[in-house]
Amino acid sequence: MNTYFDRRYPDISDLKKKAKKRIPRFAFDYLEGGCNQEHGIVRNRQALAAVRLKQRQLQPRIIPSLSCEILGRPYSAPFGVAPVGLQGLMWPRTPEILARAATDLNIPFVLSTVSSSSLERVAEVSDGHAWFQLYNPTDDKIRDDLFRRLEAARYEVLVVTVDVPTFGFRPRDIRNGLSIPPRMTIKNLLQMLSKPQWFISTVLAGKPQLQTLLPYMPGNKSGAGLAAFMDKTLMGPVDAEGLKEIRDRWQGKLVVKGLLSTQDAEEAVAIGADAIVVSNHGARQIDVGEAPIQPLLRIADLVAGRIEVYMDSGVRTGPDIACAIACGADCVFLGRAFVYGVGALGERGGIHTINSLKMQLEQVMAQLRCATPSDLANCLAD
Ligand SMILES: Cc1cc2nc3c(=O)[nH]c(=O)nc-3n(C[C@H](O)[C@H](O)[C@H](O)COP(=O)(O)O)c2cc1C
Repeated sequence: MNTYFDRRYPDISDLKKKAKKRIPRFAFDYLEGGCNQEHGIVRNRQALAAVRLKQRQLQPRIIPSLSCEILGRPYSAPFGVAPVGLQGLMWPRTPEILARAATDLNIPFVLSTVSSSSLERVAEVSDGHAWFQLYNPTDDKIRDDLFRRLEAARYEVLVVTVDVPTFGFRPRDIRNGLSIPPRMTIKNLLQMLSKPQWFISTVLAGKPQLQTLLPYMPGNKSGAGLAAFMDKTLMGPVDAEGLKEIRDRWQGKLVVKGLLSTQDAEEAVAIGADAIVVSNHGARQIDVGEAPIQPLLRIADLVAGRIEVYMDSGVRTGPDIACAIACGADCVFLGRAFVYGVGALGERGGIHTINSLKMQLEQVMAQLRCATPSDLANCLAD
């Protein structure tokens, strides 16, 4: 099973096409969409496609190894699964499928605060290797309780997301009246019934809920209700002061996700973070910002050797991962790509997607004569 690779879907775009056929429209739109006009989604892809790597040919052939160390722990590849909320809406048990695949193939997996699987369940299927992404609770009691649960479940890495000071303006979700669990309007029901495999699997798994947060949230949440709940419950301060408090309270590794400026990166170092993720949240929060690959180079140059630097947003291929590493990333995360994988192939989607990306990355590295991921740092074209 760990070597599973379905030759019909070599590229992420193949998985996306297949997933789109199997997932109800409102759920696919939630996964696929960005904010406002979705210019940021296009910009993320274009900026990655504009990176150029240089080749030396008169070198011996090598067999590359993707092995690397991230936050002091050995991993088998320099990429991981980014936190994606409400994954169970796209395909039941997606967080568990991806956490298990990431554990089996030894890459990082980050569970979202607003996940459809509980943090306890994911700790179980990942043998305690999963990381947890935090939207900082406004209520200290909820935060203390979450930390208590995280410690009891042996989470070692906390990823604090700092780029959601407001709920992104996402026209697709507004039009679709997105809600958790999905509302039974005629339109939604028809969309669900038109995807029988999704429908049956979802009925068998039970309606998607925000499992980790259930103890703190009474009642179902419509799109507007969900935004209000997030505003009220999960919009605690993640400015420098707020992060300092979290740093003082959290004993494990601390990663700050969603930075795009050198000043913020410098503050994260001062606060004592162990790593940062240069990210624009997959272009779901602001439509007029930079693609993360652009500030990545500046940020990685500035903080090199003091803190680890990761990157996400727009990554879809092995060459994209190679380019992000060449621009200074120690690890690269992907959000939508892995969910397309599960939407397309169910249980096997996680393993397939990881293997596809590994094969692609190995091929680029062999072509560039890079024996290890860190060798890619010398490959950026002038
Ligand atoms: C459907 C969806 C839900 C997301 N939910 C979260 C979340 O709960 N917490 C978070 O920190 N980031 C969240 N993100 C952002 C991802 O962690 C990541 O930054 C982004 O997906 C990277 O871009 P990509 O999808 O182009 O790879 C979400 C992204 C998507 C697409």
